Amino acid sequence: PAIKVAALCGSLRKGSYNRGLVRSAIDICKESIQGMDIEYVDVSPLPMINTDLEVGGRFPPPVEEFRAKISLADCILFASPEYNYSVTPPLKNAIDWASRAPNVWANKAAAIVSSGGGFGGGRAQYHLRQIGVFVDLHFINKPEFFLNAFQQPAKFDGEGNLIDPAAREKLKEVLLALQEFTLRLQGPR
Ligand code: FNR
Repeated sequence: PAIKVAALCGSLRKGSYNRGLVRSAIDICKESIQGMDIEYVDVSPLPMINTDLEVGGRFPPPVEEFRAKISLADCILFASPEYNYSVTPPLKNAIDWASRAPNVWANKAAAIVSSGGGFGGGRAQYHLRQIGVFVDLHFINKPEFFLNAFQQPAKFDGEGNLIDPAAREKLKEVLLALQEFTLRLQGPR
């Protein structure tokens, strides 16, 4: 069976470049990668983390739904901008909810891509890797994907779709590496 990828975006903005990376990853996967399906999982319906909302061992419905999707995924693709040198609140909130016992991130492979200013979100990527230590995600190390969204020639069109051919090729390499690593981590199927 095809491996299932849950793709998360740390930006809630309609024209988000990082959401554009997720859309492109889905297209690239459909067009040119066999044995892998990517589903976008929206983090925006999640309430702000508050353990008072956990009642009788149950989470609020949007949290239950989110946790189920993560739990069913073989691996995770994170696309997130950098806010003040770290991951964004919506992404951290999602990670925190799904880390509540039982931690549904545990032992999954993951990859990070990002787009933004100067370093293309690189500093947030390293914070995310650190969070991954505790929640027991296994990130691929290479290739790394950081994209400065504001350099010419334009990397994205007016709707936030990735149009740069070299970046699309690099994104495909990330997906292939994630697929290979996920299969290796899971062992014989
Ligand atoms: C930013 N941005 C930003 N960029 C960066 O390279 N390093 C940073 O530390 C920050 N900090 C930051 C804080 C806050 C609160 C905002 C709103 C923005 C810029 C940000 O990366 C840029 O706007 C991206 O385009 C946002 O990603 P999306 O929404 O296009 O996916």
